[in-house]
Amino acid sequence: MTHRIVLPRMLETGAGAIRRLPAVLETLGCRHPLIVTDQMMVSLGHVELLDDVLGSAGMSCGVFAETEPEPSELSLLPAVQQLKDGSFDSIVALGGGSAIDSAKAIGVLGKHGGRMADYKVPRDVTEAGLPVIAIPTTAGTGSEATRFTIITDAESDEKMLCMGLAFMPLAAIIDFELTLTAPPRVTADTGIDALTHGIEAYVSQKASPFSDQQALSAIALLAPNLRRVYHNPDDREAREAMMLGSTLAGIAFSNASVALVHGMSRPIGAHFHVPHGLSNAMLLPAITRFSLPGAPARYAQCARTMGIATPKDSDTLANERLLDELQAINRELQVPSMADFGIEREKYVSLQGLMAQQALASGSPGNNPRVPSEAEIVDLYEQVWHQA
Ligand SMILES: [Fe+2]
Repeated sequence: MTHRIVLPRMLETGAGAIRRLPAVLETLGCRHPLIVTDQMMVSLGHVELLDDVLGSAGMSCGVFAETEPEPSELSLLPAVQQLKDGSFDSIVALGGGSAIDSAKAIGVLGKHGGRMADYKVPRDVTEAGLPVIAIPTTAGTGSEATRFTIITDAESDEKMLCMGLAFMPLAAIIDFELTLTAPPRVTADTGIDALTHGIEAYVSQKASPFSDQQALSAIALLAPNLRRVYHNPDDREAREAMMLGSTLAGIAFSNASVALVHGMSRPIGAHFHVPHGLSNAMLLPAITRFSLPGAPARYAQCARTMGIATPKDSDTLANERLLDELQAINRELQVPSMADFGIEREKYVSLQGLMAQQALASGSPGNNPRVPSEAEIVDLYEQVWHQA
């Protein structure tokens, strides 16, 4: 059996790496990027900084700063037009997962045309889009190191998963200093998302010896630092560990896939507009409890890697510690219950069947160590409501 591993061609890492953008572009043979970002990055001064460093290197850029959270195809179209009207040779994606996911889609639509639905799974999109250089500002979705993008169909509200080499950034700039300004809620949600990537990649049925190493390294970096960055945003050491852990977790799940948590999380996001990391957080403890019998040794290894169980502890004890820890993280990071978030009970109950079908259709539950039936997913959606 073989495993195909897909990676960015180049990573520039460390404090201040953002200033290396011109050097990264030059190495790739690019000189005139379109910066794809959002208004927050403009107001934080990051876009101006990029414009300055590019100018100092004799390069120029265009800016599209209208990307949306959980991007819809409609939101990308002005940037696609901007690409066609200009003479851009690359895209610099600056922001969280939504900005980077938008940039990946813009790069493919701008070069090859068509509608986003033409590129959704099961199609394996291998046609190279415009080169994308991803600069994540959260730790994180890991999108800078994944071959996926998720774009919402404006008409059906479907979150379309698109995958293939075309969506893997050519390069990424991993500068943890950009995460220092992230507010606690964003830090918590994106951090739990990254931890979920590490755990799901490690227990995935598509895991490989390569992805295992990335997943465990990611878990070891993320788990002890989640609380630190939440309580102390200026903790540079913890921020750096989270940033690196997030990218490694991205590499892990890009190559091993995510599983049931993400499969069930996307429909919650689509129907109730819960931020991606937060819906993962709401699901993670209950879904882990359900999935444990499918891979007890693997989940025990997660607990040991998180530092909450020792090599001498039995798998059973390590599994209990894992469940306790996931609940404790949610409590300490103030993950709200679904009711407290404002999800309407009646609507939630009426959509459980549809959400279960959509979760299964995404394929992610099929990677889970314990593969659920549709009825079991409905039951899990109900459990999660009461547990949180
Ligand atoms: Fe995720």
